[in-house]
Amino acid sequence: MPPKRIAVIPGDGIGREVIPQAVNAICATGAEVQIAEFDWSAERYLRDGTTVPPEGFATLQHFDAVLVGALGDPRVPSNIHAKEILLGMRFRMDLYANVRPVKLLDEFLCPLKNTRPADVNFTVIRENTEGLYVDVGGTFKQGTADEIAINEDVNTRKGVERVIRYAFEYARRHGRRRVLMADKSNVLTHAHGLWQRVFKEVAGEYSDIAASHMYVDALCLQMVREPAQLEVIVTNNMFGDIVTDLAAALQGGLGMAASGNIHPGRTSMFEPVHGSAPPLAGKNLANPIGAILTAAMLLEHIGFPDEAASIESAVSEAVRRRKITADAGGALGTAEAGAGICKMIEAG
Ligand code: NAD
Ligand code: IPM
Ligand code: MN
Repeated sequence: MPPKRIAVIPGDGIGREVIPQAVNAICATGAEVQIAEFDWSAERYLRDGTTVPPEGFATLQHFDAVLVGALGDPRVPSNIHAKEILLGMRFRMDLYANVRPVKLLDEFLCPLKNTRPADVNFTVIRENTEGLYVDVGGTFKQGTADEIAINEDVNTRKGVERVIRYAFEYARRHGRRRVLMADKSNVLTHAHGLWQRVFKEVAGEYSDIAASHMYVDALCLQMVREPAQLEVIVTNNMFGDIVTDLAAALQGGLGMAASGNIHPGRTSMFEPVHGSAPPLAGKNLANPIGAILTAAMLLEHIGFPDEAASIESAVSEAVRRRKITADAGGALGTAEAGAGICKMIEAG
C-alpha cells in the first residue's frame, strides 16, 4: 500500500507549537505516512494577502486527511483569514459532522468533586456546515441609532438529517446505547422544530439506541451535575461550539480536547478544540495533548487503529505520571511533554 498522505496546517499562535508535537507522535507510531506542510496562516496573510491560495481546497482533496492547529491572530482583527481557511474547509469540503470526544483521563484533571474517568466519557456531534455560522444576513443603517444587525440561523432538512443520522451511526459503531439531541425548540420553533421532527423520525430507524432530548440550557446543567448520563450528544453548530468548551473543562481544559471534522468517504480535517491562545504563544507553555489526541483520531480515521491506540495509551501514561504541561497540573514545557509522549509511544 502506498503511504497515506497528510496535509498539515499549523496555522497561528500555539498551533505552531502543538502541531509539530502531534506530527512527531504520528511519526513515532511508525505509521506509513507522508506529510506535506501548508503555510496558511495570519503570517502568510499579512505577508502577501493570501488566505487560501487558488485551488487550495481542491489540493487538500488529494490528501487522505488534513491536520490543522488553530487560526486566529490579534494582528488580523477581522479574523478574515481564519474564516476563509477554517470555516472554508468545513463548508467547502462539506465536513458536516464535527466529532468532539469528551473523555476524562484521570480524576485529578476534572474540576468536579468525586468525578472519575468512567463518569466523563461522551461525544458531542456538532453540525458543522449550517446554522448561525453560514454568514447569511447583514447590517442596515450601520453606525446610526437605528442600526439593524442580522445573522440568520439556516437549517436545512438535508443538513439536519445527515448529522442526526451520523450521530446514531456513531453510537452504533462505538457501542453506545443513547443519543441525546439538544436544541432550543421551545423558543426557536421554526428552525429547531425541524430538528425535533427529523430527530424523532431518524430515531425510529434505530430501535437499538435510546433517543432523548434536552434543551441546551438544561444540558449545560446536566453536563456539570451528572455527566455520567451522557453518551452521544447531537446538536447544531452554535450550541455545539459552546458546549464543547464546557465539556473541555470537564476533561482538564481546552488543552486536552480533540476533534475531527468529518464527511464520511471524503478527505476530512482534524484539529484540537482550542484556539491559537495568543497569550501563551511562543512560550513553550501550550498543552500539546489536544493536538496529539487529534492526531490519534486522524490515524484511526485513515486506517491506522493500532497506531492511534498506541498514542492514546502513551497520553494516558503521560497524564498518570504527570509528564504534562502546567495548565493540566504538570511542570513540563510543550516540547518536553510532546517528546515524553513520543518516547512512550516508541517504548510501546
Ligand atoms: P483559546 O482556545 O485560544 O483559549 C481559551 C483559553 O484556553 C485561554 O485561557 C488559553 O490560554 C487556554 N488554552 C487554549 N488552548 C490551550 C492549550 N493547548 N494549552 C493550555 N491552555 C490552553 O480561545 P480564545 O482565547 O477565545 O481565542 C483565541 C484565538 O483563537 C481567537 O482568534 C479565536 O477566534 C481563535 N480560535 C480558533 C480556533 C480554531 O482554529 N479551531 C478555535 C477557538 C478559537
Ligand atoms: C471552534 C472554534 C471556531 C468555531 C472559531 C474559531 C471559528 O471556536 O472550532 O470551536 O466557532 O467553530
Ligand atoms: Mn470553539
